[in-house]
Amino acid sequence: MLNVALPKGRLGEKVLAMFEKAGWECPEIHEPGRKLIFENAENQVRYFWVKPSDVAIYVERGAADIGVCGKDILLEYAPDVYELLDLKTGICRMAVAAPKGFTDPKDRALRVATKFGSITSRHYASTGREIDMIHLNGSIELAPILKLSDVIVDIVETGTTLRENDLEVIENIVPISARLIANKASYKFKSGVIDAIRRSIEEQITEA
Ligand code: PRP
Repeated sequence: MLNVALPKGRLGEKVLAMFEKAGWECPEIHEPGRKLIFENAENQVRYFWVKPSDVAIYVERGAADIGVCGKDILLEYAPDVYELLDLKTGICRMAVAAPKGFTDPKDRALRVATKFGSITSRHYASTGREIDMIHLNGSIELAPILKLSDVIVDIVETGTTLRENDLEVIENIVPISARLIANKASYKFKSGVIDAIRRSIEEQITEA
C-alpha cells in the first residue's frame, strides 16, 4: 500500500487529479463527506487530506510514503525528506511587504512579523539588517497596519491581500511552488512505484 499525504484545499484537488491521471485513481475520495482517509485496495493506494503545513511531518516520519507540499515549508522546516519534483503549480513567492511609502528606520532594529521565522532570519542575516522578529500564525498583513511591526515576510500569490490592505512588496525573497516529496526509507523500498508516479506527473507537467 502506498500512503499519500495531500494538502487540503485547492492545491490538493489539483494534485489529486494529477495522481489519478497517473493511474492511481480512488473513486471513494470524490464522494461528499468529511472523511479524511480513502483507500483503493485494487491499485494499492491510500490518500489522506492533511493541513498543508503538516504534509512534510507525515512524510518525514513515514506516516506517508509521499506527499505534496509547498517549497516554503521545505525552506522553513528543512524536513529530512527527498524532494522529487517541482509540480510547477501553487506558484507564489516569499516576499517582504510594507505599507506604501515605507522607509527603513535605520536607527533601530526592523520589526518583522511573520509565520516563517527561519526564512526571515536567513534573509536578514544575508543582508546584515538587525531585526526584531514577531511570530504570528496568520493574518500577518494586519501587523504593520496596527503598528505591531514595520514590515512582514509572507507568501504573495495574486497580491490581492496586500493591495486590499494598502501594503506593497518591497523585496522578493524566493519563488515558491508545490513539490512532490518522499520519505527516505519509503523511497528505498518502494522506488518502483514512487518513480512511476514521479515520471507520469512529470510528463503531465511537460505536456501542459
Ligand atoms: C496566504 C498569505 C497571504 C495570502 C496571499 O495566506 O499568508 O495572506 O495567502 O495571497 P494573495 O497574494 O493571492 O492575496 P493563506 O490563505 O495561506 O492563509 P493564512 O492567513 O493562514 O496565512
